[in-house]
Amino acid sequence: MLASEVASQIAIHSAYGGVVPEVASRNHLRALKPVIERVLAASGVALADVAAFAATSGPGLATSLMIGTSAAKGLAVGFRRPYLAINHMEGHLLSPFFDTVEGVRPAVALIVSGGHTMLVEIEAMGKYRLLGQTVDDAAGEAFDKVGKLLGLPYPGGPNVDRMARQGDPRRFDFPRSMLDSGDFAFSFSGLKTAVRYLLPKLAELPLPDLCASFQEAVVDVLVEKTVRAARATRQRVVALSGGVSCNSRLREKMRAACAAAGLELLIAPPALSTDNAAMIGYVAALRLATGETSPLTADIDPNLRLVADLRAAG
Ligand code: KG4
Ligand code: ZN
Repeated sequence: MLASEVASQIAIHSAYGGVVPEVASRNHLRALKPVIERVLAASGVALADVAAFAATSGPGLATSLMIGTSAAKGLAVGFRRPYLAINHMEGHLLSPFFDTVEGVRPAVALIVSGGHTMLVEIEAMGKYRLLGQTVDDAAGEAFDKVGKLLGLPYPGGPNVDRMARQGDPRRFDFPRSMLDSGDFAFSFSGLKTAVRYLLPKLAELPLPDLCASFQEAVVDVLVEKTVRAARATRQRVVALSGGVSCNSRLREKMRAACAAAGLELLIAPPALSTDNAAMIGYVAALRLATGETSPLTADIDPNLRLVADLRAAG
């Protein structure tokens, strides 16, 4: 990786307590040119020396996807280079392999982000099997909603994490939903509701204990199901990715559980865990190396699937 630049809109959207699609796309348009200039300056690479241009084609907000893909297509046409449409979830999925000598290897992957919570078996690059996913809220979404309930600033995830460090994770016994469902599905909306119903019953808000106890419930289910998935698929490597993989307690407990189970754990560095373009560039580079490119007619797909999509692509 030569350079990675992220134009975060967190400060803009925190005033609304969440992402406002129209505001997001307008600011993408505004941020695009400066961020391209920044990454070129940081890498010392000229646009004319870029081998290919890639962008996320989904899943995500349509109006934001359109801006990124249009820009990448425009650059591809202008510089007569290939264009690659990349699945955002594949970016997360493969990000733990970015820094490894071996590259992409067979593994069980847990992707935990603001929009997704899924367990995927990686057989090889492009060969993925969905083991299970959330039936309602994503893990990051649960962190953000509970953070909001507790009056913490947006996004809740990192703030709950910080607050939980001084808390007692055993003070409140929140439900470990679907822990024994016998499959690899997740559910987090009941946990969020449990927090909501508890709050009016408390005389004061023991914020650190609430955060630590909520976080522990999320982490316990994520860790337990991931280790079980590795056992069921006989995989020896666990790849953890997505914004929630920055969570300190998740990292700590996943590390301990994998060590106890004799599993090798790969976690993307924090800068490659929350949304970034480097992970998209990594997937694009791997695909380009096998001769794969996308037609300029490739459209965005706000609901792009990781597994069905790639199966269709062969
Ligand atoms: O992968 P990501 O940057 O964007 C999506 O594709 O969704 O993930 C963002 C999510 C947010 O829900 C955010 O609250 C959560 O990741 N997150 C965290 C932490 N850092 C980010 N959740 C818990 N603990 C953290 N330290
Ligand atoms: Zn993401």
